[in-house]
Amino acid sequence: MNQELTQIISNREVMPGIFHLKVASSQMSLDARPGQYVMITCDRGTERLLRRPISIHRTFDGGLELLYAGVGGGTQWLSQRQSGENLDILGPLGHGFQVNPTAKNLLLVAGGIGIAPLIYLAEEALKAGKNVTLVAGARTADQLVPTSRLPPGIDFKVATEDGSAGYKGLVTALLPENAAKADQVFICGPMPMLKAIAANYASSFTDKPVQVSLEVRMGCGLGFCYACTINTAQGLKQVCKDGPVFEMSDVVWGELK
Ligand code: FES
Repeated sequence: MNQELTQIISNREVMPGIFHLKVASSQMSLDARPGQYVMITCDRGTERLLRRPISIHRTFDGGLELLYAGVGGGTQWLSQRQSGENLDILGPLGHGFQVNPTAKNLLLVAGGIGIAPLIYLAEEALKAGKNVTLVAGARTADQLVPTSRLPPGIDFKVATEDGSAGYKGLVTALLPENAAKADQVFICGPMPMLKAIAANYASSFTDKPVQVSLEVRMGCGLGFCYACTINTAQGLKQVCKDGPVFEMSDVVWGELK
């Protein structure tokens, strides 16, 4: 884990309200693993904000790519930063996805911006010779990641709530059919989606291992403030350092907000 002042290579809106940020950091690009995240200090003039957690979307030789929604004060500030400016970044942080060596067919399930770390996972899994199906849901077609951002060889399926692309409805409806072929499942998306899957679709996975990446409120990102504590089958855990990836069956879903 490093803390660096990293230079912005580029930072631009690639979908409505979604920004793609490239930063230079040779060390972080070497250390990062799919499912990990960084904390970025977002600073609005005299008002120093807490660091914001953003998942790593992919790495390249010499830096990191991040895909984030410019929704709150901190990330809106971030969205206005220009190439050449410096950012204070801490990372890579947390425990990411763990692919079972024996799993051949992987199912990745993304809701909204939850697709960002799953594309990184898909790239690494394809390089390792796995078969990867990625099912992604969004409200409308223009909120789906363009296929040009996907690695070659991936099986990509989409659902949109308004029916403007792919299946009309929620991405969860695509789970039973696609889970049948999978040896291992990885899910990242908004909390209501994760809770719905845990409550209604767990039977689709029978005894397959399922990992979820949780997005909860964070403070320090380092295990000090306890803002991110959740209950699991193994007791209290901190999402920032014990996660953000957990086995779905370990999480006590009823206690999550
Ligand atoms: Fe501070 Fe997890 S964010 S302990």
